[in-house]
Amino acid sequence: MLAAASALAQPRLTKDNIDEVIRAMTLEEKATILVGSGHLFREDGTPYGMEAKVPGAAGTTRPMERFGIPGTVLADGPAGVRIDPRRPGKDQTYHATGFPVGTLVASSWNTDMVEEMARAVGEEVHEYGVDVLLGPGMNIQRNPLCGRNFEYFSEDPLLTGKIAAAYVRGVQSNGVGTSIKHFAANSQENNRTGNNARITERTLREIYLKGFEIAVKEAKPWTVMSSYNIINGTYAQQRKDLLTTLLREEWGYRGLVLTDWWNNAGTVKSAWAGNDLMDPGAQSQIDRLVAGVQDGSLAMEDLDRNVRNMLEYIVKTPAFKGYEYSDKPDLKAHAQVARRMAAESSILLKNEVGTLPLKGVRKVALYGITSLDFVAGGTGSGHVHRAYVVNMEQALENAGFEVDKNLTDYYRSQIAAYEAKKNLSVIPDGSFGYGKPKIPEVEVPKEAIVREAKENDIAIFVLGRNAGEENDRRIPDDFDLTETERTLLRQVVTEYHALGKKVVVVLNIGGVIETVSWKGSVDAILLPWSPGQEGANAVVDILTGKVNPSGKLPMTFPVDYMDHPSSKNYPYEYDQNAFRLMRGREHEPVRNVEYTNYEEGIWVGYRYFNTVGKEVSYPFGFGLSYTEFAFSKPVVKATADGFEASVTVTNTGTVAGKEVVQLYVTAPEAGLAKPSYELKAFAKTRELAPGESQTLTLKVDNYDLASYNEASSAWETPAGNYLLSFGSSVADIRATARYQLKKAGKWQANRLFELDAPMQEMTFSRR
Ligand code: BGC
Repeated sequence: MLAAASALAQPRLTKDNIDEVIRAMTLEEKATILVGSGHLFREDGTPYGMEAKVPGAAGTTRPMERFGIPGTVLADGPAGVRIDPRRPGKDQTYHATGFPVGTLVASSWNTDMVEEMARAVGEEVHEYGVDVLLGPGMNIQRNPLCGRNFEYFSEDPLLTGKIAAAYVRGVQSNGVGTSIKHFAANSQENNRTGNNARITERTLREIYLKGFEIAVKEAKPWTVMSSYNIINGTYAQQRKDLLTTLLREEWGYRGLVLTDWWNNAGTVKSAWAGNDLMDPGAQSQIDRLVAGVQDGSLAMEDLDRNVRNMLEYIVKTPAFKGYEYSDKPDLKAHAQVARRMAAESSILLKNEVGTLPLKGVRKVALYGITSLDFVAGGTGSGHVHRAYVVNMEQALENAGFEVDKNLTDYYRSQIAAYEAKKNLSVIPDGSFGYGKPKIPEVEVPKEAIVREAKENDIAIFVLGRNAGEENDRRIPDDFDLTETERTLLRQVVTEYHALGKKVVVVLNIGGVIETVSWKGSVDAILLPWSPGQEGANAVVDILTGKVNPSGKLPMTFPVDYMDHPSSKNYPYEYDQNAFRLMRGREHEPVRNVEYTNYEEGIWVGYRYFNTVGKEVSYPFGFGLSYTEFAFSKPVVKATADGFEASVTVTNTGTVAGKEVVQLYVTAPEAGLAKPSYELKAFAKTRELAPGESQTLTLKVDNYDLASYNEASSAWETPAGNYLLSFGSSVADIRATARYQLKKAGKWQANRLFELDAPMQEMTFSRR
């Protein structure tokens, strides 16, 4: 009898007795389970997971033996699993595959392929003993200078949401979790833990939250990571309207909410708001939760609710199920997946007749230090410790080209000199804790270029950029080309063109750059972004025509940086040092650093450019192919709650290829200013042989057509005439049709996210 009673008091956690376990827990135990186990630091200051189960993981949750609760492991994301590649005393290595960055993944516009890649990512999560991947990153690319744009998908919420949902499904199909991040409105890095993003409710819901809504509803991520920033005066992590009313009540989310790292302030308020797990966790947070309940500032029901979410998460994990992971994911197979993803998604921006695919080219001169110092992915927590990165020299040689050795030897020596000077080779495998900074471009003597132009058949110029968390990019020497890059490109173009030879530019970058001033001078431009460890091989697959490019831009390339209306309210002139000096001293709040007014409202990216008719360098959705496609007249059919539109795409050219159909909708305004075009659905064909056709069916619900009306606190789809435009990009509409909605739709919501001070949104005149 007695034994039974004590067994009752100490139940071992199962998926069916969560309430019983909660009842048996002391206040301290409840607080403890909600706080991660923190970090230990290596001598060089880089952190690793406390339990040393998976060194290099970003965080761990606390085990509680009394209830049979194991610790679980959380690791970054999103371009692969970020764990240490080496462990003390072990010969084995623990590399993870360096997959393409988020922006490239989104450029595929191919959700099946994204899901397939993410399955491979998830297998590495599972086989390395990790329970949750801290990704995908899915903030909106509001402005080209955000230092983390490469981790994010797009300037468009629908594309963001659909790609994120596919990614989550793929990873989670392995029985491990994801963490969609950073929830929400974390679209700038400068002062990222203190910036107050001031945004109207409509803009938040339509632009910055929509992608999360789609991912939550369609893919049920195990966890959501609440962001560091402030929204309308209150930390995102402390906003009950965001984390509970919207996320759980309106969207029906059932998983776990965890904080982004090290935001220790306001633990009690965060827990109250609906933040379950504090990461990476500190004893002070446990103490605060305990004190909060004792002094009445935190209700026991709220604490219990969070504990329940936590335990529901734990019982799903491989750690809880006692999965015996191998530490041997199939890196060989995954490298091939990474290569195919990169080839599927790279975007051909320019191709003068007869340039690509390469024909009759044997000898190649590679310009740009990035051709050897190839950028597989960005820096910061999104860095992945991969076993190798293929560079352009290796990739070209793999495909049988002869690469000019004078040039590659020269660049190799320049890289070695730079690394020695900066003492960059501190960690083996070329893996730095948080990734390696980009090596600046170097000059090539003019006589050398003259000689190389004679000796080679073609010039390939690789232009590189890298960025990462905590810093936004700058206009000079980053958005804009550096003087060295400009001079080198000019000289190469002059000497090769003088001999009738072509110059191909490869943009190995993580975010949008200026293109207008130089794009006219070169023969072809390929944009593979930061395409992962196998990306250079994928680039060569496209250059040779082994793969026909089918990637499409997930954002706009503007003519001028300032053309983006968000640029007026972005810290592009931010001086970190000046700001540091001000800290702790009394001062007027610094615009775009301490607060940022999202005055452009919903007019982000093509929503703005297209509506006002502003010229761009490359439009949203753009990407060339080696073949041509024709779109049929669309057939639109009403469904119970919306419509289905079918379009037949025919390959009218001479080589096999894939095309993306992008459905843009022009909705009746009914009292709300609306963009001329909004992406509402998209689909990609399979590879079509010349002459072959495929019919694609795009499904849109009336709810997807709704705009948010703050006056009525409702999503509204007015009755009337909807223009449906089927494009190959937002600027290349191939067919149109109409959808007639007889009965208006209205979905009541809650009034949330009140502004902390009045803010006037910009207004624009339409073209
Ligand atoms: C980043 C997150 C990341 C976390 C753990 C934070 O600094 O913002 O994206 O998941 O660190 O490494």
